[in-house]
Order: sequence, then C-alpha cells, then structure tokens
Amino acid sequence: MSAIRFDDVWKEYGDHIVLERITLEVAPRAFLALVGPSGCGKTTFLRMLLGEERPTRGQILIDGVPLQPEPDADRGVVFQRYSVFPHLTVLQNVLLGRELQHSKFLGRLFGAAKKAATDEAMALLAEVGLKGHEDKYPSALSGGMQQRLALAQAVMRGPKILLLDEPFGALDPGIRADIHVLMKRLWNETELTVVMVTHDLSEAFRLATRVIAFERNRDRPEERERYGATISRDLEIYPRRTAQLRAVAPIRSGRDDPAEQGA
Ligand SMILES: Nc1ncnc2c1ncn2[C@@H]1O[C@H](COP(=O)(O)OP(=O)(O)O)[C@@H](O)[C@H]1O
Ligand SMILES: [Mg+2]
Repeated sequence: MSAIRFDDVWKEYGDHIVLERITLEVAPRAFLALVGPSGCGKTTFLRMLLGEERPTRGQILIDGVPLQPEPDADRGVVFQRYSVFPHLTVLQNVLLGRELQHSKFLGRLFGAAKKAATDEAMALLAEVGLKGHEDKYPSALSGGMQQRLALAQAVMRGPKILLLDEPFGALDPGIRADIHVLMKRLWNETELTVVMVTHDLSEAFRLATRVIAFERNRDRPEERERYGATISRDLEIYPRRTAQLRAVAPIRSGRDDPAEQGA
C-alpha cells in the first residue's frame, strides 16, 4: 500500500520528448490502469516508477519520499512475457521472489526461514491455481499459467506497488477472464497499489479504480519529436473494493481448489 506522486515529470531521450508534464497523485491501494497508443511512453512511465529510468525533469515520490534510483523490493513487476526463469521450477521461481527480497542482506534462504518461505510459496501457488505444478518447469505450463506464476513470484516479494506491463495481452480471451478474477482477488486480499498498462479498454474498466490515458497533443510527424505525450483523460471509477468483491469465488475451471490449502 503506497501513495504515488508524479510532480511535473518529463522524460526525454536526446531531443525526443517521450513524456511531458506528468503530474499525478495516486491514492494508496488504488488500482490504476494506463492506456494509450503504442509508443506513447507507457512502458517508459512504468520503468521510471520501477527506478530503471530517471525522469529528465520533475520528481516521483512514493509515500512522500523521493523515489530511490534503483529497483527495490517495494516494487514488483510483471511484464507481458518472459517474467519467469525457464531454468527454475515453478516453486523455485516463487521462492526466488523471496530470496530476491532478502538478497541484499541474506542471500539465499536456509533452515526455518526456507521452510516458512516454502509454505508461503505453496499457499500462494494454490491461490493462483498452480497447486500440483510446483515441480514443473515454466516451459511445461500454458501462457496463462506462466503469467499466474509471474504474478505469484511478484507477490512473494511482498511489494507495496505492483507494476503490470500488458501482463495479460498475449493470452486468449477465456484465460484472460480467468486471470482477471484472480487479479482482482489478489488486489482485494493484499494491500497492493497496482499500476497496470493495458491495450484493452474493457480490461482497464473491469479491473481499475481509476483509468488514465496518455496522448500526444500534436500529431503531425514533424511535431512528434518536440512534444511528448501527457495525461489526456483521467477517470475515477466507482470504488470497487466492496464486500461483494471479497466474496468472488476462487478460480476453478478444472484446476485444484485453492481453498483446500486454506489460502
Ligand atoms: N532507452 C531508450 N532510448 C531511446 N528511446 C527510447 C528508449 N526507451 C523508449 N524509447 C522511446 O520512447 C517512446 C515510448 O516508448 P514506450 O514507453 O516503450 O511506449 P509504449 O510502452 O507506450 O508503447 C518510443 O518512441 C521509444 O522508441
Ligand atoms: Mg510498452
């Protein structure tokens, strides 16, 4: 749970202005969806939030504190593809989330800490519908299962902010609907502030508490370099964190029942 603030943020590469005048306040526990045409700077926005890129001007604050210049465990990220490690099993991938979280101090987990982390990872895997698949490698999983694994790995790091870059874009519509239910439940059951980039407007409106759009105000090709995209729409959606939502049934569709694990 974290509040995010962008204070007149600009991002330029050489004389190419990608983003300009981004001023935005995101409430703790918000689910923010970000839409906009391809190439308008959505991924750049996420990478600045992750600490992989620095604004050229302006500043970003998390809970009132200027953003640290490096990615840290407070921010988890799931990209459209390739978020999981192919040479690690499903369980190892999720455990890695915890080891990365601790890596600055402890390196790998041992003994009681490892046992506790393993129990937690197993519960989380059950929660995302991957119970029984713990020892498989990602290549043996479908695309939807791999993305659920990526989500579990990100959540295992205990981030305050979850960044999603078109995480479900490559999935079939049916699978996507399934994963939407899961995503909503994760967000309901955790304290996460979520920032999700999506191509899919209906996905944005289904999941988010707020939808913003990026757009370049001038579209003539010769002006493209000189003007960046900025926030062109900002829609607050009716608050969705309600008692009904908490009651959303666990996802099943042929998978093991997460409730068995007491998750
Ligand atoms: N490291 C970089 N160096 C130069 N230009 C970049 C770099 N990263 C992104 N860009 C440019 O910034 C613009 C926005 O890219 P991106 O944020 O990936 O857009 P989106 O995610 O909305 O499709 C593109 O024109 C892209 O070429
Ligand atoms: Mg992108």
